[in-house]
Amino acid sequence: MKVIHDLNEIFAQIDFVRRDGKKIGLVPTMGALHAGHLSLASKAKQECDIAVTTIFVNPTQFGPNEDLAKYPRTLEQDLDSLAKMGCDYVFVPASDRVYSPTHSTFVTPPRVATRWEGAIRPGHYQGVATIVLKLFQLIPAHVAYFGLKDYQQVRVIQSMVDDLNIPIRIEPCETVREADGLAMSSRNRYLSPDERQRALGLWNALSAAHGMVHAGQCDVAGIESAMKSQLEKAPVDRIDYAAVVHPETMEPIERVDDLAVAIIAARVGNTRLIDNRILLPPS
Ligand code: PAJ
Repeated sequence: MKVIHDLNEIFAQIDFVRRDGKKIGLVPTMGALHAGHLSLASKAKQECDIAVTTIFVNPTQFGPNEDLAKYPRTLEQDLDSLAKMGCDYVFVPASDRVYSPTHSTFVTPPRVATRWEGAIRPGHYQGVATIVLKLFQLIPAHVAYFGLKDYQQVRVIQSMVDDLNIPIRIEPCETVREADGLAMSSRNRYLSPDERQRALGLWNALSAAHGMVHAGQCDVAGIESAMKSQLEKAPVDRIDYAAVVHPETMEPIERVDDLAVAIIAARVGNTRLIDNRILLPPS
């Protein structure tokens, strides 16, 4: 496994293997890797000839009062895990190389970025879209793997790729969960044992929504109020949103007549968690 820090070198090396006819799979991450991240890298390895993982804690997607400074950084372990699963290249750029002191160009994120995370974390998706476009330029991959754990992020990136005609295929990947249902997240390590228990409220709320839709309930107001009851029962400390939305536009809907997605963001202690679940009404 090659670990590359330099921007010109990663482009040169991946461009070279691509010209050699190899299929390249890209997995962008911010490190502190867990089984969720590794499932993306392993899918890239299975489906492509060359798997490239990037590790970069992107400062432009963090708000001024967010956890950039204390975001977990576990590079040695990350490299170890990636080497074990057969990753071919890891790109670990220095922050001041990715964003030069004169950097002033940013991607205006697409409409799907407006609500939910976009509304609560102003500038977040501008930062995500900008870094992802930069990574797509630096690493000329055929396919890029993103986790459905960050459902709205997947929609933002798919829309950006469509709108800007970026020649890469986006492959959304299933959320990897702990045995009890909690979605794996780098931020789970912030949780105390009591908070870890209460964090299950998100999964319980999503399961309640899933169960109701499965049983034929299609009224979104009722589903959302059941989700909120589960979150309050946990209890979580703050609900940012618990909603049922259109799976493509991310706009609120009133009835689940077709595929929909339940999305939640809630705070447990000082940790902000997000999760979601696809809802499919019985046919
Ligand atoms: P990060 O939070 O490190 O996540 C990297 C990738 O792993 C994302 O595509 C995310 O959706 C996926 N992922 C996280 N938890 C997962 C889980 N439990 N199961 C499956 N996939 C999971 O998302 C980012 O970084 C950044 O915004 C990034 C796209 C790298 C841009 O900086």
